[in-house]
Order: sequence, then C-alpha cells, then structure tokens
Amino acid sequence: MGSRKVVSRLAAEALGKSSGDYVSKDHDELAQIEALKREHGLDHVYRFDIGKNTDGFTPLISDVLDMPQLKDFIVENTIEYPDNHYQLLRRQLAMRFELDPEFFVMTAGLESMIDHIARALFDPGDKYVLPVPNFSVFESMSNRMQAEVVFVPLSAQLQWTEETTQAMVKAVAETRPKLVWISNPVNPTGQHVPLHEIRQVVDACKLAEVPVVVDEAYGEYSDTDDGYVSAAAMVPDNPHLMVLRTFSKMYSLPSARVGYMMCASPELRAAVNLYRPMFPFSWFSLYLAQLAVLDDDYIVESRTRLARRKAVFMGAVSGFTQFEFIQSDTNTLMFRHASLSADELAMALTKKGILTANLNKVDGIEGLQFLRMTIRSSEDNAVFVAACEQINGQS
Ligand SMILES: Cc1ncc(COP(=O)(O)O)c(C=O)c1O
Repeated sequence: MGSRKVVSRLAAEALGKSSGDYVSKDHDELAQIEALKREHGLDHVYRFDIGKNTDGFTPLISDVLDMPQLKDFIVENTIEYPDNHYQLLRRQLAMRFELDPEFFVMTAGLESMIDHIARALFDPGDKYVLPVPNFSVFESMSNRMQAEVVFVPLSAQLQWTEETTQAMVKAVAETRPKLVWISNPVNPTGQHVPLHEIRQVVDACKLAEVPVVVDEAYGEYSDTDDGYVSAAAMVPDNPHLMVLRTFSKMYSLPSARVGYMMCASPELRAAVNLYRPMFPFSWFSLYLAQLAVLDDDYIVESRTRLARRKAVFMGAVSGFTQFEFIQSDTNTLMFRHASLSADELAMALTKKGILTANLNKVDGIEGLQFLRMTIRSSEDNAVFVAACEQINGQS
C-alpha cells in the first residue's frame, strides 16, 4: 500500500507486540513437516506438540459415519445455513452441568471465545490479572485490545499453591482489573487446581465486581468417572464467572471448532455474543459435537487409558538423569534437559521425527528451557522414550 495507513491503530500496535506464543499463524505447519521429512530423511513425523486426545473420537461417531443413509442427511443439511442457536447441544450440555440452557454461548473453538471475551470487556489501558505460565492466547487476545497485564507467578516449582491463591486475591483487590484469566487444568503445566482455591479467586472477584474466566479446555482430564470437577457448579451464584470448555481436547474433535461458555449473566453473554459470528461453525461440526456428548463412557475410557500410559511413560523416563519431567494431571507434560537448551533439545528430537511445543518464550517460564509433549499411543510413546534415552546417553 502507499503512505496512507489502512490498518487501525489497535491492529498496528498489536502487530508490533509479541506474547510468547508457542503456536503461530505464520508457520505453515504442514509445509514445515514435509520440509523436515525431506531434510532429515524421516518416514513419519510424530505430533507430540498438539495437546489433544490422540486416540481419536468416540466409536459412536465412526458408526454413524458408516451409515449409508448419512450421505443424503449431509447433503440436505450442508446446502442450508446451520442452526445458530444450538438448542439441542445446549440442552445436552445443560443437563450434564445441571445449568439453564440459556447460560450457554457457543463459538468456533475457545480461541474465538477468548477473542470475543477480550473484545467485549477491554478498553485500551484496562488491566487484567494472569497467573503465569499460562495459555499464551489469553495474552495475545488481550494485547490486541491494548489491555495491560498484571502477572501473578506460580510457585518456583511451577505449581498453583495456597500462596498463588492469596497473590491472585491481592492482585484483584489492589488493581481492580477489568478481567481475570485462569486456565484449570493449567496449560502448560497440566496441574489441576483444586476447586476450593478457584472459589477463593471467584469470591474475591465477586467482591471487587471483576469478571473472571475459568478456561477448562482440559477439564475432562480432571473430571472424575462419575462427575464433573468444574467451576460450572459455581456459575448460578456467580454471574461474573465465565467457565469455558471445548470439544477439541479429550473429545478429539479439534477440527469441528466447537467451544462453549457457561455464564449466568445475560449482560456478559450478550456482549460476548455480539462479537460471535452469525454462523461460527458448520452444521456438521454441531452434529459431531451432539454425537460426542452422548458417549460419556468413551471419556471415562480415554481418561483411564491415558492414566495407564502416562504411568508407564513416567516410569520409563524416570531413569534418564539428564531429563526433568513435571508431574501433570492432563495428557501433556513439561520437560527439559540439564545441559541442552530448549532449542537444542527440540532440534535433537525433531531430527528423530518428534515435534514438541517449545515454551521457552512463554511468560513466567521465559528462558527456563522447557518443552511440552503430549502422551500418545503406547507405540508412539515408546519412540519418544527411545529418543530421550539416546539423547540422555549422549550428554
Ligand atoms: C487453555 C486453553 N484454552 C483454549 C484452547 C483453545 O481451544 P480450541 O481448540 O477450542 O480453540 C486451548 C488449546 O490449546 C487451551 O489449551
């Protein structure tokens, strides 16, 4: 373009800011993987960098996809605009969390939800409280609105402790922020923060009239087999609380792009809905999500299988003296090497066809040389363990 500024001031300033993202729209991941295969002579590249359930979705969906009648049903629905009130899915989820179906707002994955919440709440210069390390998208979306961060660090061992709760409560009381972002389980540490700790922050926010987001993208990993361990139970009595969940992780439907918010405040719901596109996801995505919630047993099985594989994995890497793995309540684990930098370790693994998420620029753990990996199938985990064993022996 010529000399005239076509991009808004907000956009221009957001373009100049970085927030330590470990995922980037600038990378063409598929092209990068093909390049890696060529460069290192790899037959296969393992995506240990993606935090979803690698076992795939419920067999119920596979059974439905196999049905001969499905073709006409797909055609019939795909040639129309989708239902954008999501009545059935909202009722299904409302039953599950024992909430009013009106409390649910759906949009294209939680990444969009975080964007809509940031746009709905922030004016330039507003403050927000963020425990760190955390999911970098909270910061990138807040940065775009020129909101200013107040960091609350987790403990030196990267755990949310009672002291973290007290520091969060203090930050809310002292700065009266416009918003508090929390992920639980925490991404990237994988720690499930007990609900009584979360409740204290929710109470402090209520007193200070500060909206608070509890993002439970990995919530299905810390639910129990007979119930949901969720801040959703606090929603009816706390209109300032927004609890988020997604079909991208344990449900293994990341491409469906279905995420939802549970919130009792009509005002907050309306403001978030304002920024939501008219048709955020397709009819087919909605159909898949509606099927997925029918099979709770699959989620219980996935959780049990994961716990077993994680125990085997942790046992296998425990003898690698150069490696440190941080205990987690989800399917992802942070780890680092005693003498290799995050870049060097990531490259050593990449050369063996193993992709990991590099967390070295994430606020709160910047420069601490951590990577994050996802527990996959037993066979894939064995490939990861063998690679670590080799790297451990070389150093
Ligand atoms: C804490 C957290 N929130 C939100 C998301 C985004 O999920 P979605 O696929 O629904 O956009 C992720 C994905 O990694 C996440 O870890």
